[in-house]
Amino acid sequence: MDNTSVLSSYKFFARFYVFGLNPGRAEAVRRMELKSGHRVLEIGIGTGLSLPLYPSNIDITGIDLTAEMLEQAQQRVDHMGLDNVQLHLMDAQKLDFQDNSFDRSIAMFVASVTPDPVAMIREMKRVTRPNGSIFILNHFSQKRSVSSVIEGALSPLAPLLGFEPLFYLDEFLNKAGLNGSKDIPIQPFGYWRLLCFKNKK
Ligand SMILES: C[S@@+](CC[C@H](N)C(=O)[O-])C[C@H]1O[C@@H](n2cnc3c(N)ncnc32)[C@H](O)[C@@H]1O
Repeated sequence: MDNTSVLSSYKFFARFYVFGLNPGRAEAVRRMELKSGHRVLEIGIGTGLSLPLYPSNIDITGIDLTAEMLEQAQQRVDHMGLDNVQLHLMDAQKLDFQDNSFDRSIAMFVASVTPDPVAMIREMKRVTRPNGSIFILNHFSQKRSVSSVIEGALSPLAPLLGFEPLFYLDEFLNKAGLNGSKDIPIQPFGYWRLLCFKNKK
């Protein structure tokens, strides 16, 4: 994946993006243990499917690379009258925020989409305050499984699919320096996992 293929995929998907039933979003928001006044950064917020899950007494900043996805999110914000949400067109790999700007940051179904997930994690750590919490919700491939054979076969189509199907957890944890993160399987199948870690600076 590169930024150009992300943009062309999600410009196309924005019109009918319906990946709305995944229980991981609600689980992630519950695990964020949000308190009044918390500042939350949601990376790759897409069409804003998570927005109804957040309490109204926190400040949410959502960013996305794809203008067409953000337009859908802005319509949701307007429709729901959410005055605690700000949306920005921005690249997760190079965030335009000061260090330590947020109490929590989260990326839902973005790690296997963004071209450089390690740069995304580095930026999330930078803009999240010390001892704040960082969350990654994503699918991860199982080594030596039937599904990983299919994912491997689909991997060359990643730019068309809009995500990298073959995405191993241990490789991601090693490259991003996230070993020791809490790893929560999302039921019913545990195909998606929620990674949580405290931001030690
Ligand atoms: C699979 S969608 C997930 C959207 C949303 N998080 C959700 O739960 O429905 C992936 C999103 O990540 C965005 N994205 C990919 N790479 C990005 C980057 N480098 N910076 C910001 N957003 C990015 C895409 O534009 C797309 O909206």
